[in-house]
Amino acid sequence: MKRLYETLLEYPEKGYYPAHMPGHKGNISGGFLREALRYDITEIDGFDNLHDAKGIIRESEEYAAYLYGSSETHFLVGGSTLGVLSAVFGTAGPGDKVIIARNCHRSVYNAVCEGRLECRYVYPEYMEGPGFVGEIRPDLIEEAVNRDPDAGVVVITSPTYEGVCSDISAIAGICHRYNKILIVDAAHGAHFGFCDTLPASAVRQGADIVIHSVHKTLPAPTQTALIHINGSLVNRDSIRRKLKIYQSSSPSYLLMAGIDMCMSLIGDNGKELFEAFGYRLNKLDKGLKELKCLKHLSRELLISEEGLYDHDPGKLIISTVGTGITGRDLYDILRNEYAIQPEMAAETYCLMILTLMDEQEGFDRVENAIKCIDEKLFAADNKRKGNNNNSDTVCRLYAKRAKQIITAYKAFEGSRQDIEAADAKGLISADYISLYPPGIPLLVPGEEITAEHIEGIEEAMRSKLNVQGITKDGRIGIVAGNTGEDRWERFFI
Ligand SMILES: Cc1ncc(COP(=O)(O)O)c(C=O)c1O
Repeated sequence: MKRLYETLLEYPEKGYYPAHMPGHKGNISGGFLREALRYDITEIDGFDNLHDAKGIIRESEEYAAYLYGSSETHFLVGGSTLGVLSAVFGTAGPGDKVIIARNCHRSVYNAVCEGRLECRYVYPEYMEGPGFVGEIRPDLIEEAVNRDPDAGVVVITSPTYEGVCSDISAIAGICHRYNKILIVDAAHGAHFGFCDTLPASAVRQGADIVIHSVHKTLPAPTQTALIHINGSLVNRDSIRRKLKIYQSSSPSYLLMAGIDMCMSLIGDNGKELFEAFGYRLNKLDKGLKELKCLKHLSRELLISEEGLYDHDPGKLIISTVGTGITGRDLYDILRNEYAIQPEMAAETYCLMILTLMDEQEGFDRVENAIKCIDEKLFAADNKRKGNNNNSDTVCRLYAKRAKQIITAYKAFEGSRQDIEAADAKGLISADYISLYPPGIPLLVPGEEITAEHIEGIEEAMRSKLNVQGITKDGRIGIVAGNTGEDRWERFFI
């Protein structure tokens, strides 16, 4: 049986004249799109339809389901964002209560806000050593479902942007004991479960709905993702209906074939590719044990010293604590002096992503650059100069219990006023304020703005981190009229 991407590859040679969409007709005059658009077709005969998949797309989705051990899998052409929205809207309706991890991605908050849901949080703990938040512990989920027994859905992120994994088996066990649906935003974990060097997949660990960005950690084009549905708690028709609403009615065949090609690669060559990836990761880990100033926050260290359930070693996190430079400084040095573009900078660490498509040469380049920077810091005696420029007032906000004064959607959709950050203490936020990446809100609309929030936001701006949700001149949106002495009364939920 021919696969979707193989059928698409053969199509231009068949000689059909394209009296159909798309309008470019494969006839773009030049540039990088010219070759790709020869294969950019629409739902013509023999190519099935994503919204009613019965043929070649259905077979590809079933193959993906088989690889991940899922009972139902759908291709997504709008990223995990689309999967998260469909999962939340398909399992909860207006006024329903959901339990979400406070460190969820903005897409989860958008779903909660647009869906007019009541939201209760579970908080990860801030890990002082690494400088980022840890896992969602199963006992916190148990407490949360006991506190809010009427909440029908639990949403957590695992792995996080930093690769932190929660114990999904235990959390799924708790959720199912209480008859709750567990949605795992595993946007960063599409590569899990394919070899021992990597953590287990949330699908095989028993989550009801798992969302994977194929594009983040596997070889597939940007915007490609998967949603997996399992168990008997989820109304599958409801999710399928949401997918029909939110997916484009003209889904890109380039993207769908991109997912299919990636699945074929895993099915045909995954064993060798993942083994080689595991070998390179282990070698890099050994090499970085020699660092004198910088510190590799490895999987082994995070599990043994921080007690994490698990960690994705493909997230290469280099801590700058105690070196006299910030995570952003390290990011800039890697970029400007070594021509390495990292994924993200935080106050106390710099994060790079390595995947099975990085060859040994790429691994060596990254390792050598880190070692070289480390040597220079050591020679300059930065270790003794101490922990200057390494405050971590921003990342700890993800674990800070904020006071939700009014429901997020009411604050977000109401009238707002932009004021100086320094004057915002004690007022109610009207917007999401987050660093991008990772796109997790430091402040949610409706939450009380505290001195720590203001300090964190100002620190993030000083550290040149990308702060979203503030005006160009650094002002913060507050719920309008929320300035007087009696300010809370009108705003309580
Ligand atoms: C945890 C998490 N969930 C969801 C998303 C959205 O994924 P996508 O970019 O595939 O839409 C992201 C994006 O960074 C993310 O980090």
